[in-house]
Amino acid sequence: TMVSSNTILKKAQEGGYAVGAFNAENMEMVQAIIAAAEELKSPVIIQTTPSTVSYASLELFCGMVSAEAQKVSVPVVMHLDHGNSFELCKQAVMAGYTSVMIDGSKLPFEENIALSKKVVAVAAEAGVAVESELGIVGGKEDSHEVSDKDAIYTNPLRAKEFAEQAEIQSLAVAIGTAHGFYNGEPKLDFDRLKEIRSAVTIPLVLHGASGVPDDMVRQSIELGICKVNFATELRVAFTKGVRQSLESNAKMFDPKIYNAAGREEVKKLVKEKMHVCGSVGKA
Ligand code: 13P
Ligand code: ZN
Ligand code: NA
Repeated sequence: TMVSSNTILKKAQEGGYAVGAFNAENMEMVQAIIAAAEELKSPVIIQTTPSTVSYASLELFCGMVSAEAQKVSVPVVMHLDHGNSFELCKQAVMAGYTSVMIDGSKLPFEENIALSKKVVAVAAEAGVAVESELGIVGGKEDSHEVSDKDAIYTNPLRAKEFAEQAEIQSLAVAIGTAHGFYNGEPKLDFDRLKEIRSAVTIPLVLHGASGVPDDMVRQSIELGICKVNFATELRVAFTKGVRQSLESNAKMFDPKIYNAAGREEVKKLVKEKMHVCGSVGKA
């Protein structure tokens, strides 16, 4: 069943767990993520970035996700990750996405609020929830790279002001995570997260979870994170499965065989992450 992210994130917030949000790049990853959710009776969020959307289309991804979601009992959210314009967010809503992120994190505070409000206005009509980001998460997501010196941690009081004024349904925070892998262990500012949690009432989102040790993800959830984004590790898992399959038989040419191997690896990984998020059995 396709649902908006609002209900499942509120439930997660009350229950003290998080819902995993997994970036899908193709049909096999969509299948893997939904199959994992159904097996573990976990709510799930599937998300696509703008570059993934332009690789296929909003309609193609939304079609695949809703077709798979109809077959299962668990709630499935189709989310636009790092939406980079009002137009794209609006198109996603029209294509059937049930949740969108508008990423105005590089804009001045007031402009980020204004843009978020504009997206909330079109999304609300369709019952679609909106995530915004305050502060800047570091690292590389698709073509968009943020150097360490340009990453900015979220200010708790500004976060409160932002959430109230923008009237968004969830807030992505920058507390030291980065997109992609890390050189060594990431350093997360848990004190800052605690302060943000006590200042802000809506569900909080952790980006850049690939490469973050499981116990740190768990600690972030204990301190109030309700949605955890995983992308890079899924790409690596899919590629690992495909590569192993191709290397095991140089004469093979059926995409169904090697893509299925990639799908299996993604499903295994997603199930592990659902256990870390504590969402197992919460559907
Ligand atoms: P990772 O690639 O580090 O998992 O980050 C995922 C993310 O934040 C997607 O928005
Ligand atoms: Zn992100
Ligand atoms: Na990361």
